[in-house]
Amino acid sequence: MAAEMKLSLLFAIFAFVASANAQGSPVPVVIWHGMGDSCCNPLSMGSIKRLIEKEVKKVYVRSLEIGSSIEEDTLNGFFMNVNDQIDMVCKKLASDPKLQSGYNAIGFSQGGQFLRAIAQRCPSPPMLNLISVGGQHQGVFGLPHCTGNSYICEWVRKLLNYGAYEPEIQSRLVQAEYWHDPLNEDEYRKKSIFLADINQEVTVNQTYKTNMLKLKNLVLVKFLQDTMVEPRESEWFGFYTPGQDKKLYTMFDSPLYTEDKLGLKTLNDTGRITFLASDSDHLQFTETWFINNIVNKFLK
Ligand SMILES: *[C@@H]1O[C@H](CO)[C@@H](O)[C@H](O)[C@H]1NC(C)=O
Ligand SMILES: *[C@@H]1O[C@H](CO)[C@@H](O)[C@H](O)[C@H]1NC(C)=O
Repeated sequence: MAAEMKLSLLFAIFAFVASANAQGSPVPVVIWHGMGDSCCNPLSMGSIKRLIEKEVKKVYVRSLEIGSSIEEDTLNGFFMNVNDQIDMVCKKLASDPKLQSGYNAIGFSQGGQFLRAIAQRCPSPPMLNLISVGGQHQGVFGLPHCTGNSYICEWVRKLLNYGAYEPEIQSRLVQAEYWHDPLNEDEYRKKSIFLADINQEVTVNQTYKTNMLKLKNLVLVKFLQDTMVEPRESEWFGFYTPGQDKKLYTMFDSPLYTEDKLGLKTLNDTGRITFLASDSDHLQFTETWFINNIVNKFLK
Protein backbone atom coordinates (compact mmCIF):
# COMPACT_ATOMS: atom_id res chain seq x y z
CA MET A 1 0.00 0.00 0.00
CA ALA A 2 2.68 2.45 1.03
CA ALA A 3 4.77 1.52 -1.97
CA GLU A 4 1.78 2.02 -4.26
CA MET A 5 1.15 5.49 -2.87
CA LYS A 6 4.76 6.41 -3.28
CA LEU A 7 4.63 5.24 -6.85
CA SER A 8 1.51 7.23 -7.69
CA LEU A 9 2.99 10.30 -6.03
CA LEU A 10 6.07 9.82 -8.16
CA PHE A 11 3.91 9.59 -11.28
CA ALA A 12 2.03 12.73 -10.29
CA ILE A 13 5.28 14.65 -9.88
CA PHE A 14 6.57 13.24 -13.16
CA ALA A 15 3.40 14.30 -15.00
CA PHE A 16 3.60 17.76 -13.45
CA VAL A 17 7.23 18.26 -14.52
CA ALA A 18 6.52 16.94 -18.02
CA SER A 19 3.58 19.27 -18.54
CA ALA A 20 5.57 22.26 -17.23
CA ASN A 21 8.23 21.49 -19.81
CA ALA A 22 5.74 21.05 -22.63
CA GLN A 23 4.21 24.43 -21.83
CA GLY A 24 7.69 25.97 -21.42
CA SER A 25 8.15 29.48 -22.70
CA PRO A 26 7.66 29.90 -26.43
CA VAL A 27 10.68 30.57 -28.64
CA PRO A 28 11.55 34.30 -28.46
CA VAL A 29 11.34 36.49 -31.54
CA VAL A 30 13.81 39.10 -32.73
CA ILE A 31 12.66 41.63 -35.33
CA TRP A 32 14.69 44.09 -37.43
CA HIS A 33 12.91 47.03 -39.05
CA GLY A 34 13.33 48.36 -42.58
CA MET A 35 14.66 51.58 -44.14
CA GLY A 36 13.12 54.80 -42.80
CA ASP A 37 11.57 52.92 -39.88
CA SER A 38 12.63 52.34 -36.28
CA CYS A 39 12.35 49.69 -33.58
CA CYS A 40 9.43 51.27 -31.86
CA ASN A 41 7.12 53.09 -34.23
CA PRO A 42 3.67 52.20 -32.82
CA LEU A 43 2.25 51.95 -36.36
CA SER A 44 4.86 49.55 -37.73
CA MET A 45 7.22 47.44 -35.59
CA GLY A 46 5.30 48.37 -32.44
CA SER A 47 2.10 46.92 -33.85
CA ILE A 48 3.90 43.81 -35.15
CA LYS A 49 5.38 43.25 -31.68
CA ARG A 50 1.95 43.61 -30.05
CA LEU A 51 0.36 41.31 -32.61
CA ILE A 52 2.92 38.54 -31.98
CA GLU A 53 2.56 38.99 -28.22
CA LYS A 54 -1.20 38.66 -28.53
CA GLU A 55 -1.04 35.53 -30.71
CA VAL A 56 1.79 33.70 -28.93
CA LYS A 57 1.14 33.76 -25.20
CA LYS A 58 4.08 34.82 -23.02
CA VAL A 59 6.47 35.20 -25.94
CA TYR A 60 9.45 37.53 -25.58
CA VAL A 61 9.74 39.82 -28.61
CA ARG A 62 12.76 42.05 -29.08
CA SER A 63 12.54 44.77 -31.71
CA LEU A 64 16.11 45.79 -32.49
CA GLU A 65 17.13 49.38 -31.94
CA ILE A 66 20.27 50.33 -33.83
CA GLY A 67 21.67 53.13 -31.71
CA SER A 68 20.59 54.76 -28.51
CA SER A 69 17.44 56.60 -29.55
CA ILE A 70 14.65 56.29 -32.08
CA GLU A 71 16.09 59.16 -34.14
CA GLU A 72 19.52 57.52 -34.22
CA ASP A 73 17.93 54.16 -35.08
CA THR A 74 16.12 55.72 -38.07
CA LEU A 75 19.22 57.57 -39.32
CA ASN A 76 21.39 54.48 -38.92
CA GLY A 77 19.06 52.72 -41.37
CA PHE A 78 20.58 55.03 -43.99
CA PHE A 79 24.01 56.06 -42.76
CA MET A 80 25.64 53.44 -40.54
CA ASN A 81 28.00 50.91 -42.11
CA VAL A 82 26.05 47.64 -42.33
CA ASN A 83 28.98 45.48 -41.26
CA ASP A 84 29.23 47.56 -38.07
CA GLN A 85 25.47 47.17 -37.57
CA ILE A 86 25.83 43.38 -37.83
CA ASP A 87 28.63 43.41 -35.22
CA MET A 88 26.54 45.58 -32.93
CA VAL A 89 23.48 43.36 -33.19
CA CYS A 90 25.59 40.23 -32.77
CA LYS A 91 26.76 41.56 -29.39
CA LYS A 92 23.25 42.60 -28.38
CA LEU A 93 21.91 39.09 -29.09
CA ALA A 94 24.80 37.41 -27.29
CA SER A 95 24.22 39.48 -24.17
CA ASP A 96 20.44 39.08 -23.98
CA PRO A 97 19.83 36.31 -21.40
CA LYS A 98 16.34 35.63 -22.75
CA LEU A 99 17.66 34.57 -26.16
CA GLN A 100 20.30 32.07 -25.15
CA SER A 101 18.30 28.92 -25.99
CA GLY A 102 17.58 30.19 -29.48
CA TYR A 103 15.20 32.56 -31.22
CA ASN A 104 13.20 33.10 -34.40
CA ALA A 105 14.14 36.12 -36.50
CA ILE A 106 11.89 38.29 -38.67
CA GLY A 107 13.51 40.92 -40.88
CA PHE A 108 11.41 43.52 -42.64
CA SER A 109 12.71 44.80 -45.97
CA GLN A 110 16.47 45.49 -45.64
CA GLY A 111 16.24 44.00 -42.14
CA GLY A 112 15.75 40.67 -44.00
CA GLN A 113 19.21 40.60 -45.54
CA PHE A 114 20.72 42.03 -42.35
CA LEU A 115 19.32 39.19 -40.25
CA ARG A 116 20.61 36.72 -42.84
CA ALA A 117 24.06 38.20 -42.23
CA ILE A 118 23.49 37.59 -38.52
CA ALA A 119 22.62 33.93 -39.25
CA GLN A 120 25.81 33.57 -41.32
CA ARG A 121 28.26 35.47 -39.12
CA CYS A 122 26.83 35.10 -35.67
CA PRO A 123 25.63 31.56 -34.84
CA SER A 124 25.37 32.05 -31.09
CA PRO A 125 22.75 32.26 -29.72
CA PRO A 126 21.21 30.02 -32.40
CA MET A 127 18.71 31.42 -34.89
CA LEU A 128 16.00 28.82 -35.56
CA ASN A 129 13.66 30.20 -38.22
CA LEU A 130 14.73 33.11 -40.42
CA ILE A 131 11.76 34.94 -41.89
CA SER A 132 12.56 37.57 -44.49
CA VAL A 133 9.61 39.83 -45.26
CA GLY A 134 10.44 41.65 -48.50
CA GLY A 135 14.23 41.44 -47.96
CA GLN A 136 16.50 42.12 -50.94
CA HIS A 137 18.76 39.07 -51.01
CA GLN A 138 20.33 39.83 -54.37
CA GLY A 139 20.31 43.56 -53.72
CA VAL A 140 18.58 46.34 -55.61
CA PHE A 141 19.19 48.28 -58.79
CA GLY A 142 17.05 51.37 -58.33
CA LEU A 143 15.34 53.18 -55.48
CA PRO A 144 11.97 54.16 -56.95
CA HIS A 145 10.37 54.98 -53.62
CA CYS A 146 11.83 55.54 -50.25
CA THR A 147 9.89 55.82 -47.01
CA GLY A 148 10.46 58.43 -44.39
CA ASN A 149 12.09 61.81 -44.69
CA SER A 150 11.98 63.03 -48.32
CA TYR A 151 15.08 65.19 -47.87
CA ILE A 152 17.08 62.14 -46.77
CA CYS A 153 15.65 60.11 -49.66
CA GLU A 154 16.77 62.70 -52.23
CA TRP A 155 20.21 62.75 -50.69
CA VAL A 156 20.47 58.94 -50.78
CA ARG A 157 19.49 58.95 -54.47
CA LYS A 158 22.12 61.56 -55.28
CA LEU A 159 24.83 59.56 -53.55
CA LEU A 160 23.80 56.33 -55.33
CA ASN A 161 23.84 58.13 -58.68
CA TYR A 162 27.17 59.74 -57.94
CA GLY A 163 28.73 56.34 -57.38
CA ALA A 164 27.40 53.55 -55.22
CA TYR A 165 30.75 51.74 -55.38
CA GLU A 166 32.91 54.72 -54.37
CA PRO A 167 34.70 53.60 -51.18
CA GLU A 168 33.59 56.68 -49.23
CA ILE A 169 29.96 55.96 -50.11
CA GLN A 170 30.24 52.17 -49.62
CA SER A 171 31.58 52.60 -46.12
CA ARG A 172 28.73 54.87 -45.03
CA LEU A 173 25.58 54.52 -47.12
CA VAL A 174 23.48 51.48 -46.23
CA GLN A 175 21.65 51.27 -49.58
CA ALA A 176 24.96 51.42 -51.48
CA GLU A 177 26.10 48.36 -49.54
CA TYR A 178 23.39 46.25 -51.15
CA TRP A 179 23.44 48.05 -54.49
CA HIS A 180 23.78 45.44 -57.23
CA ASP A 181 24.52 46.80 -60.69
CA PRO A 182 23.86 44.05 -63.27
CA LEU A 183 25.65 46.12 -65.92
CA ASN A 184 28.81 46.06 -63.80
CA GLU A 185 28.87 42.69 -62.06
CA ASP A 186 32.66 42.79 -61.75
CA GLU A 187 32.66 46.12 -60.01
CA TYR A 188 29.86 44.93 -57.71
CA ARG A 189 31.84 41.82 -56.80
CA LYS A 190 35.00 43.73 -56.09
CA LYS A 191 33.61 46.77 -54.33
CA SER A 192 30.40 45.87 -52.52
CA ILE A 193 31.50 45.63 -48.90
CA PHE A 194 28.37 43.90 -47.61
CA LEU A 195 26.13 42.08 -50.10
CA ALA A 196 28.92 40.63 -52.25
CA ASP A 197 30.50 39.29 -49.07
CA ILE A 198 27.43 37.57 -47.60
CA ASN A 199 26.52 36.23 -51.06
CA GLN A 200 29.93 34.57 -51.41
CA GLU A 201 30.77 36.55 -54.55
CA VAL A 202 34.46 37.12 -53.84
CA THR A 203 35.54 34.10 -51.86
CA VAL A 204 33.45 31.30 -50.47
CA ASN A 205 33.46 31.40 -46.69
CA GLN A 206 32.62 27.88 -45.58
CA THR A 207 31.52 29.16 -42.18
CA TYR A 208 28.68 31.10 -43.81
CA LYS A 209 27.35 27.92 -45.37
CA THR A 210 27.79 25.85 -42.21
CA ASN A 211 25.88 28.48 -40.25
CA MET A 212 23.08 28.81 -42.82
CA LEU A 213 22.56 25.05 -42.62
CA LYS A 214 21.84 25.37 -38.90
CA LEU A 215 18.53 27.09 -39.72
CA LYS A 216 15.36 25.07 -39.25
CA ASN A 217 13.55 27.12 -41.89
CA LEU A 218 14.29 29.94 -44.27
CA VAL A 219 11.08 31.75 -45.14
CA LEU A 220 11.14 34.24 -48.02
CA VAL A 221 8.21 36.58 -48.51
CA LYS A 222 7.85 38.38 -51.83
CA PHE A 223 5.37 41.19 -52.52
CA LEU A 224 3.81 40.62 -55.92
CA GLN A 225 2.83 44.30 -56.38
CA ASP A 226 6.02 45.71 -54.87
CA THR A 227 6.77 49.22 -56.17
CA MET A 228 9.73 49.85 -53.84
CA VAL A 229 12.11 47.02 -54.56
CA GLU A 230 13.76 46.75 -57.99
CA PRO A 231 13.66 43.98 -58.96
CA ARG A 232 11.11 42.43 -56.60
CA GLU A 233 12.46 38.93 -57.51
CA SER A 234 15.39 39.80 -55.22
CA GLU A 235 13.01 38.99 -52.35
CA TRP A 236 13.19 35.34 -53.49
CA PHE A 237 16.92 35.46 -54.34
CA GLY A 238 16.30 36.18 -58.03
CA PHE A 239 17.89 39.03 -60.00
CA TYR A 240 18.64 40.49 -63.43
CA THR A 241 20.68 38.29 -65.72
CA PRO A 242 24.13 39.96 -65.96
CA GLY A 243 24.67 42.62 -68.62
CA GLN A 244 21.15 44.09 -68.75
CA ASP A 245 18.24 45.05 -66.52
CA LYS A 246 15.12 43.41 -67.97
CA LYS A 247 15.55 39.63 -68.04
CA LEU A 248 15.47 37.91 -64.70
CA TYR A 249 16.71 34.65 -63.26
CA THR A 250 15.30 32.81 -60.26
CA MET A 251 17.19 31.52 -57.24
CA PHE A 252 17.20 28.03 -58.76
CA ASP A 253 19.18 29.25 -61.80
CA SER A 254 21.73 31.28 -59.85
CA PRO A 255 25.28 29.99 -59.29
CA LEU A 256 24.76 30.75 -55.60
CA TYR A 257 22.14 27.98 -55.66
CA THR A 258 23.41 25.54 -58.30
CA GLU A 259 26.91 25.47 -56.77
CA ASP A 260 25.38 25.38 -53.28
CA LYS A 261 27.83 28.01 -52.07
CA LEU A 262 25.53 29.16 -49.28
CA GLY A 263 23.66 25.95 -48.53
CA LEU A 264 20.49 27.12 -50.31
CA LYS A 265 20.35 23.96 -52.41
CA THR A 266 20.77 21.74 -49.37
CA LEU A 267 18.14 23.76 -47.51
CA ASN A 268 15.70 23.38 -50.40
CA ASP A 269 16.46 19.68 -50.85
CA THR A 270 15.66 19.10 -47.19
CA GLY A 271 12.38 21.02 -47.46
CA ARG A 272 13.56 23.96 -45.37
CA ILE A 273 12.91 26.87 -47.74
CA THR A 274 9.40 28.29 -47.88
CA PHE A 275 8.50 30.78 -50.60
CA LEU A 276 5.55 32.97 -49.69
CA ALA A 277 3.85 35.63 -51.77
CA SER A 278 1.65 38.46 -50.65
CA ASP A 279 -0.42 40.00 -53.42
CA SER A 280 0.22 43.56 -52.27
CA ASP A 281 2.72 46.42 -52.33
CA HIS A 282 5.87 46.41 -50.20
CA LEU A 283 5.14 45.30 -46.61
CA GLN A 284 1.41 45.88 -47.15
CA PHE A 285 0.25 42.52 -45.80
CA THR A 286 -2.90 42.22 -43.70
CA GLU A 287 -2.93 41.14 -40.08
CA THR A 288 -4.79 37.95 -41.05
CA TRP A 289 -2.18 37.13 -43.70
CA PHE A 290 0.61 37.60 -41.17
CA ILE A 291 -1.10 35.45 -38.53
CA ASN A 292 -1.97 32.62 -40.93
CA ASN A 293 1.30 32.48 -42.86
CA ILE A 294 3.92 33.54 -40.36
CA VAL A 295 2.73 33.40 -36.75
CA ASN A 296 0.79 30.13 -36.84
CA LYS A 297 3.29 28.31 -39.06
CA PHE A 298 6.66 29.48 -37.78
CA LEU A 299 6.32 31.16 -34.38
CA LYS A 300 4.24 28.64 -32.44
C1 LIG B 1 34.29 33.69 -42.51
O1 LIG B 1 33.25 34.14 -41.69
C2 LIG B 1 33.50 34.06 -40.30
C3 LIG B 1 32.23 34.46 -39.59
O2 LIG B 1 31.89 35.78 -39.86
C4 LIG B 1 34.68 34.94 -39.94
O3 LIG B 1 34.98 34.84 -38.58
C5 LIG B 1 35.88 34.54 -40.77
O4 LIG B 1 36.93 35.45 -40.55
C6 LIG B 1 35.54 34.54 -42.26
N1 LIG B 1 36.65 33.95 -43.01
C7 LIG B 1 37.21 34.57 -44.03
C8 LIG B 1 38.31 33.84 -44.70
O5 LIG B 1 36.86 35.69 -44.39
C1 LIG C 1 13.01 22.67 -54.01
O1 LIG C 1 12.23 22.03 -53.02
C2 LIG C 1 10.89 21.78 -53.40
C3 LIG C 1 10.14 21.29 -52.20
O2 LIG C 1 10.86 20.33 -51.47
C4 LIG C 1 10.91 20.79 -54.55
O3 LIG C 1 9.58 20.51 -54.97
C5 LIG C 1 11.68 21.40 -55.69
O4 LIG C 1 11.81 20.46 -56.74
C6 LIG C 1 13.08 21.82 -55.25
N1 LIG C 1 13.67 22.58 -56.33
C7 LIG C 1 14.76 22.17 -56.96
C8 LIG C 1 15.22 23.02 -58.08
O5 LIG C 1 15.39 21.21 -56.61
